[in-house]
Amino acid sequence: MMVLIIYSHPSTNSYTNEILRQVTSNLEKEEIDFEVSDLYAIDFKTDMSEEEYQREGFANFDLPIPDDVKNEHQKIAKADCIIFLYPVWWSDCPAKLKGWFDRVYSVGYAYGNDTLEDKNQLMKTIPLGIVICTAGHPNEFLDEIGIAKSMQNVMLDDRLGKRFSKKEMIILGGTLNKDKVRTAHKEIIDSLGKTIKNSIS
Ligand SMILES: Cc1cc2nc3c(=O)[nH]c(=O)nc-3n(C[C@H](O)[C@H](O)[C@H](O)COP(=O)(O)O)c2cc1C
Repeated sequence: MMVLIIYSHPSTNSYTNEILRQVTSNLEKEEIDFEVSDLYAIDFKTDMSEEEYQREGFANFDLPIPDDVKNEHQKIAKADCIIFLYPVWWSDCPAKLKGWFDRVYSVGYAYGNDTLEDKNQLMKTIPLGIVICTAGHPNEFLDEIGIAKSMQNVMLDDRLGKRFSKKEMIILGGTLNKDKVRTAHKEIIDSLGKTIKNSIS
């Protein structure tokens, strides 16, 4: 079993990085193989170029897919589960991860492939997708103002969509007062490996 972690935070000195370390140590404990795609560390390009737009906007399959996008496609091809891990910024993921979706979900790969003859180019259906985001506001507040629902709607129903057989979103809220939430968050992460095994087997 292979888990791909799409990680998006600019600093190792952060709560989200603390969660990343908990996730990887839990996966190690459960003897689950994993790969981290650390988008800031690899300086993943998030802006779509003019040429990429010409390919996307007009489904022009003759134009090339950039190598950095192909690299991400290869990581996805090996994955049984993808974890998206990021902090909530302005009620969504950081622009770095949004740009990953813009570019990696290329036409003919993640969508718009109905007429494509070479089905080998398609994104496979991933058995499990887990979205984990840290948030300054407590979960209750994010529920109350409708933002938790809207983030689930965008991430699970649209971005993960039918590309994943099973999916869930874990909002680790309340990080403005970390001492109050750290233990509860760790308990959730400590059960992650077992959840993945149960969901996929
Ligand atoms: C640019 C920016 C925007 C943010 N927007 C939100 C937000 O919309 N909702 C929220 O609950 N927290 C928001 N936060 C707080 C982060 O979610 C919080 O800092 C994060 O969960 C944990 O911080 P760390 O990993 O950066 O240490 C924002 C933080 C930054 C830096």
